[in-house]
Amino acid sequence: MKIAVCSAHPYDRQFLQEANATFGHELSFFDARLNEETRQMVAGFPAICAFVNDTLNEAVLQALAQQGTQLIALRCAGFNNVDLAAAARHGIRIVRVPAYSPHSIAEHTLALILTLNRKTHRAYNRVRDGNFSLDGLLGFELRGRTIGIIGTGRIGLATAEILRGFGCRLLAHDPYPNPECLALGARYVTLDELYRESDLITLHCPLNQESFHLINAAAIGKMKRGVTIINTSRGAVIDTPAVIAALKSGRIGGLGLDVYEQEGDLFFQDLSCQVIQDDMFERLLSFPNVLITGHQGFFTAEALASIARTTLDNVRVFEQSGLCPNEVTTALVR
Ligand code: NAI
Repeated sequence: MKIAVCSAHPYDRQFLQEANATFGHELSFFDARLNEETRQMVAGFPAICAFVNDTLNEAVLQALAQQGTQLIALRCAGFNNVDLAAAARHGIRIVRVPAYSPHSIAEHTLALILTLNRKTHRAYNRVRDGNFSLDGLLGFELRGRTIGIIGTGRIGLATAEILRGFGCRLLAHDPYPNPECLALGARYVTLDELYRESDLITLHCPLNQESFHLINAAAIGKMKRGVTIINTSRGAVIDTPAVIAALKSGRIGGLGLDVYEQEGDLFFQDLSCQVIQDDMFERLLSFPNVLITGHQGFFTAEALASIARTTLDNVRVFEQSGLCPNEVTTALVR
């Protein structure tokens, strides 16, 4: 099938081309993100392969339908950037990669936790600079600490498994408790109790109506003073101005982010020679106790190979049978 791959980076080309050796699709790669301005670049493609920051709103979907697109194959798990009701109205099917390697994101979560806590990023620079002072590098032991996990699906569970190995006490919150998480010894509690008890809170829920700005001033007000918050889920789960205020007052003692609400204007690009216009992002960067990575949780060889295989297979099944095994519809939003 002819597939237009949007937001294509060199690594997307590499892994999709390697996987395509067994599928034989006709792949065309476009560097640009898909949005209202670029929608014409994919005119005539029956299938479009999109990523997390491509815009798939009503206007874009309507235009794509008129241009002959039948299928959008998301090469990611999250689908908060797609207007699913509009896709249904315009007869475009949406498929995704529901599970590739939750361990990739879970392990990156731990990288954020350990780096933020033991300040290895600062130590690296100091030692290279001949500065062997330890002032400001004090960390804490994870063993015995209470960790609150919000969202215990695939990634939350994989994170819980690792944290159990560190000897942490695990609290969890999810509208659908996961028996495997319970088996690890995690205790499901209300959000209020999780906020009250946790030394560190890690977010693994999807972005939906309930989780939008879940971490806001009211929620932070219920947390332990000095709490560490880690977000590898979606940026808008956090209300950024509220978090900035709490960092300034010391209520939040550490913040590790792999995602950011306005990341669409920043991430996955080299902006190192440009003036960043996002003042909120720059304010976040100014805190010594904030660590930000640019949405790289998924970025492992294992995950990319698996994402490429499933994405191309999703298109194959649709082409051969009209079926969509990994379809995303409004029924999936919970
Ligand atoms: P999943 O669907 O396996 O698990 C999500 C869990 O969150 C479910 O158990 C669900 O019941 C729960 N949930 C839904 N709404 C909730 C709420 N308001 N409060 C608490 N729990 C809630 O999804 P998976 O694979 O674990 O991924 C989780 C999220 O991680 C994705 O939706 C995506 O946003 C993000 N993600 C980030 C990546 C990265 O590179 N940083 C890569 C892949 C996913």
